[in-house]
Amino acid sequence: MKAEGATEGRKAGPEGIQAAAAVLDRGGLAAFPTETVYGLGGDARSGAAVARIYEAKGRPSFNPLIAHVATPAQAFAQGRFEAAALQLAEAFWPGPLTLVVPAAPSCTVCDLARAGLPTVALRVPSHPVAKALLQRFGAPVAAPSANRSGRISPTTADHVAADLTGRIDMILNGGPTHVGLESTIVACLDDSVELLRPGGIPREVLEGVLGRPLDASRRIGPMIAPGLLASHYAPHAAVRLDAGSVRPDEAVLDFGGRFEGAACIAHLDLSPERDLREAAANLFGHLHRLDATGARAIAVAPVPLAGLGEAITDRLRRAAAPRD
Ligand code: TXA
Ligand code: MG
Repeated sequence: MKAEGATEGRKAGPEGIQAAAAVLDRGGLAAFPTETVYGLGGDARSGAAVARIYEAKGRPSFNPLIAHVATPAQAFAQGRFEAAALQLAEAFWPGPLTLVVPAAPSCTVCDLARAGLPTVALRVPSHPVAKALLQRFGAPVAAPSANRSGRISPTTADHVAADLTGRIDMILNGGPTHVGLESTIVACLDDSVELLRPGGIPREVLEGVLGRPLDASRRIGPMIAPGLLASHYAPHAAVRLDAGSVRPDEAVLDFGGRFEGAACIAHLDLSPERDLREAAANLFGHLHRLDATGARAIAVAPVPLAGLGEAITDRLRRAAAPRD
């Protein structure tokens, strides 16, 4: 069903949403906006559709995908939610939180989307376009970020088009996403609550709701959270972290105006006011723009580690990791 070479761009109005649901219905792929980043959606029940997602992304097929549903009730039908998972779902859904829980006997998310694991990753997005599409489709939608594997996550429809034109059926354009970081992933398994991937909801906020610290993660490792592959968000340019100064042949990803006015190829500030929410929303877009200058390297100003800073720093470290 993948249209050879043809990727239709649609505005995310009612007709566009209906057209995207029709693409999903016939086993095709539609990229759509969520509050975090754009997702590359396919019918999570269909092994064939999920295989197309891996193919379009060029992603190793052992990576399990997040299943997106319209309501918490739909999520509860897919997985087994114990007390802590319920508490988090109630506090943060709809929103940028993904919960990994044991798959329920009634789970319809196919084996391939779960990479054969006995668990399932579920998310109820809050973005109105994502919600409308999921409601209309009425079944779980597997959706990794809508970029080629190992590239920067897309926060605009243009980013998606640059990476995936000719490889997917449709791109639903709902404007820029506002969180700008992927969802926080928490595993609620065997009485433990572990942070698998920092993201749009800071650790401190999760711990505030749980009333206790998250458990130390024992699950980090390629088979459990393969999205945590080291060089997962790589721009073409080299990335130099914690820059204390910048060179004239570098592009600069600044924070808090530290390198304002420095001689360099291009200068973009994640947040001149040092607002981490603004920084998160700007992160991938700024990386895309600086990378597009063709600079040899991107020098990155230090970003604080508190709150959303943990996830921002995590993504920056991956962008800087040695490439294979
Ligand atoms: O914000 C987001 O989460 C975006 C938007 C589109 O919703 N999606 C996203 O999906 O970032 P993706 O596929 O790029 O990342 C999914 C992550 C991967 O790190 C994967 O390994 C992990 O979720 N994951 C999925 N199922 C899992 C499972 N059963 N156990 C452990 N990790 C799982
Ligand atoms: Mg991704």
